[in-house]
Amino acid sequence: MFGLTNDSGGTNAIELLKNDHRMVEDLFKQYEDIKEGAEDEAKEELVAQICDALTVHAQIEEAIFYPAARQALQQEEGQDLLDEAAVEHQTLKDIIGRLEMAPTSDPLYDAGVKVLSEYVKHHVREEENELFPKVRSSDMDLQAIGEQLAEMKKRLEGGQSRTSRNGSRGRQAQRERESGDERRSSH
Ligand SMILES: [Fe+2]
Ligand SMILES: [Fe+2]
Repeated sequence: MFGLTNDSGGTNAIELLKNDHRMVEDLFKQYEDIKEGAEDEAKEELVAQICDALTVHAQIEEAIFYPAARQALQQEEGQDLLDEAAVEHQTLKDIIGRLEMAPTSDPLYDAGVKVLSEYVKHHVREEENELFPKVRSSDMDLQAIGEQLAEMKKRLEGGQSRTSRNGSRGRQAQRERESGDERRSSH
């Protein structure tokens, strides 16, 4: 009944967002599985994927879903949830920003990924258990909003796959430069 696509090929907003949540949870699980003993590069690539996916997801929620929910939910209902969600997105972005800057050799790197995953879990639980049910019983046009979300997501991902790969290479190159500097300065 609430499939991601309906007969006309449309996209349900809530199902699209929930699909994103499941995908990111899966990436975090993959990280848990490989973190002991994996090459730095593999960990970094996975974390870049997680950060990119979360960033796109947060952007489409902030630009399209949250404002639509604010409008669809009458009066005070759900407004506090939306305020909280906006603050939680800020915290998520702070953690993501710090992880993107950190080298995988940082002793707190794995802890940073773990804290991010726990924070995401908490935020997702609130969206799925509190916000989405309210939105579902509102008069939001889930198909129309879903299509807007899908369209913006596609556009952001198209621009991001290049930057994230460059970003990852950029960080790698930066580390190589730094370790070169260390070697030189130790002589
Ligand atoms: Fe969110
Ligand atoms: Fe979400």
